[in-house]
Amino acid sequence: MAFMSSVRTIIAPSILAADFARIGSAIETAEQAGVDWIHLDVMDGHFVPNLTFGPKMVADIRKLTELPLDVHLMVNNPGELLDAYIDAGADFLSFHVEAETHVHRVIQRIRSAGCRPGVAIVPSTPIGALSCVLSDIDLALVMTVNPGFGGQTLVEECLRKAEALREERSNIGASFLIEADGGVNPKTAARCRHAGFDVLVAGSAVFGASDTERAVMQLRTASLESSTSVDDT
Ligand code: DX5
Ligand code: ZN
Repeated sequence: MAFMSSVRTIIAPSILAADFARIGSAIETAEQAGVDWIHLDVMDGHFVPNLTFGPKMVADIRKLTELPLDVHLMVNNPGELLDAYIDAGADFLSFHVEAETHVHRVIQRIRSAGCRPGVAIVPSTPIGALSCVLSDIDLALVMTVNPGFGGQTLVEECLRKAEALREERSNIGASFLIEADGGVNPKTAARCRHAGFDVLVAGSAVFGASDTERAVMQLRTASLESSTSVDDT
């Protein structure tokens, strides 16, 4: 059976690879290049060995664009920090199941605040960790690199997680989006898309490129090639 994706690929550049001193112009350039969302990586120096920014950055970016803000919390105890990111204007708010005991409660809090909840897993976490909440989320964020840094190589084994999640989504009649985060570039985008990812997060491939518009077009083209011509029988 040929795989024909029913959802247009959502391209979500991560500002982690952008120049934080020129973040306004990076967002504007990405928007003009036709990206769909902006992905914001929040790191606390504990859950991951790196620090990025807090809710003020999210709030300031909220003033710059109407694109959906896809906030990825790589922090310990995300339940303690949620409200600040909700107030800052996140549209999608994802947290790691590895960092939170009360996953279901946190999802409900995000939803009741009017945000779209997402759950994230690192490469060593099996998708079974999400199975009890798949009907409650809008986004399953599959880390395709070990979180903490941009510019790493995609972990190929993670592609199988998208295939399994796609099947599970269909079995239970859910509608969450499946997001690949890390190591996505024009060379890996087609494989990600074919595996079943709906959302492609790309940091260095977009903000590290000399021509952002061309980089986004290359990602879009690679995704289209996959969704129209790949036969997975
Ligand atoms: C990694 C972050 C990713 C990262 C992706 O911890 O969650 O979003 O920015 O960067 P690239 O696309 O460079 O792998
Ligand atoms: Zn991310």
